[in-house]
Amino acid sequence: MKIDFAKLQYQYQLYKTELDEAIHAVLDKSNYIMGNEVTDLESNLQTFTAAKQAITCSSGTDALLLAMMALDIQPEDEIITTPFTFIATAETIAFLKAKPVFVDIDEKTYNIDPRKIEEKITSKTKAIMPVSLYGQPADMDAIQAIADKHGLKVIVDGAQSFGSTFNGKTDSNLGDISTTSFFPAKPLGCFGDGGAVFTNDDALAEKMKSLRVHGQSKRYHHQYIGMGGRMDTIQCAIVDVKLKHYAKDLALRQEIASKYTEALENKDLVLPFVDEKATSAWAQFSVRVQNRDELQARLKEQGIPTAVHYPMPLHLQEAFAYLGYEKGDFLISESLSEEIMSLPMNPYLGDDEIEYISKAFSMKKNILK
Ligand SMILES: Cc1ncc(COP(=O)(O)O)c(C=O)c1O
Repeated sequence: MKIDFAKLQYQYQLYKTELDEAIHAVLDKSNYIMGNEVTDLESNLQTFTAAKQAITCSSGTDALLLAMMALDIQPEDEIITTPFTFIATAETIAFLKAKPVFVDIDEKTYNIDPRKIEEKITSKTKAIMPVSLYGQPADMDAIQAIADKHGLKVIVDGAQSFGSTFNGKTDSNLGDISTTSFFPAKPLGCFGDGGAVFTNDDALAEKMKSLRVHGQSKRYHHQYIGMGGRMDTIQCAIVDVKLKHYAKDLALRQEIASKYTEALENKDLVLPFVDEKATSAWAQFSVRVQNRDELQARLKEQGIPTAVHYPMPLHLQEAFAYLGYEKGDFLISESLSEEIMSLPMNPYLGDDEIEYISKAFSMKKNILK
C-alpha cells in the first residue's frame, strides 16, 4: 500500500466541478485583486467562526505581521511565545524588531505552558502569542487571565487550527486578534498562499484592512506604513468552495483521530492529548516515539509517509542565536523535537489505511525502543 499524507489531489477531484467553476468565474471576470469573492469569503468566514470581523490576507505569516502592526508592536517590545512551533511565529516578531521571549510547552498538549508565563513578564512585555499547535488551542482561560492581569494583548497563532474550539468558542474568536493560514496542507487550504486575521474589535479590523493595502485610507492616500498583504481573488474563491464542506471535513478529521487513537492505543507510543475544554482541527496527528529515525525509515519502506513538526525548537535555531538561549533552556520542547512524528492525516484516510498504518507499528521489526 502507498499512503498519501495529505490527499490534496484526492480533495481536488472530490470538489473539482465546484472548484473549477469558482476559478473560472474569476477568470471570466478577471477581477484578480480584491474581487467580490474576497468579501464573500470574509463574510462566510465570519459566519463560520462567529468572529465579528474576518479579513483575508496573503499568508498566515503576513496575518501575524498584520496583527502585531495593528496592535502597534514596536522595536524592543517583548512578546511571549512558544519555541515549539513553525518559525513564522517568532520570525514575524523579530521581523518587526520586537523580541520573542520563549516559554516552554505543556508536556501533554505541547502548547505554551501558562504556568511558566508570568515569570517571563517584564516592563517591556506587550503581548502573549500562543500557538494552537497541531490544531488544538492552548489553555486560553489561563493565558487570557494572565494577559488581563498584566494589561497584555493576546494574538493567537491559529495557522494550524481553523475551526477548532476552546470553551465552545472557535479558535478565531480567542484573544484580541487570531490568525490562520490557508497554506495548501492546512486543514482549510487554498491552492497557493493565503491567510486571515480575525477580531471582535472593529477599530483593529479597520486598521488591519488598511495595513493590508499599504496603510491606505483611500486610493493613494496612506495613513500607516503597511504592506502588500492581500489574498488573491482566485484563492478566496477556492477557500470559499472548501469552506462549504469544511464542517464535514472537520468531523471526518475528528473521526480519523479517534480511529487512530483506538488502533494505536496499545502500541509503545504517546498519543495526542486533547484538553477537555478544547477540540482540535487535527492539522496533524502527531505521536511521540523513542526511535524516530529508524521507525520513520521502516514506515517509509512500507509506503507510509511521516513528517516531523518540528525537529529543532526555535531557541536553538541559528537565526535566533542572537537571543542568547542555550540547549537545556526548554527541556520539554527539546525532547519533543527528538521524539515527535506526524502520521498521515486528512479527512479521507480509509479504515484500511488506518489499519495498515497501525499494523506497521505492531510488526515485530517496528517495535519501539
Ligand atoms: C504555527 C504556524 N504559524 C504560522 C505559519 C505561517 O503560515 P503561512 O505558511 O501561511 O505563511 C504556519 C505555517 O506553517 C504555522 O504552522
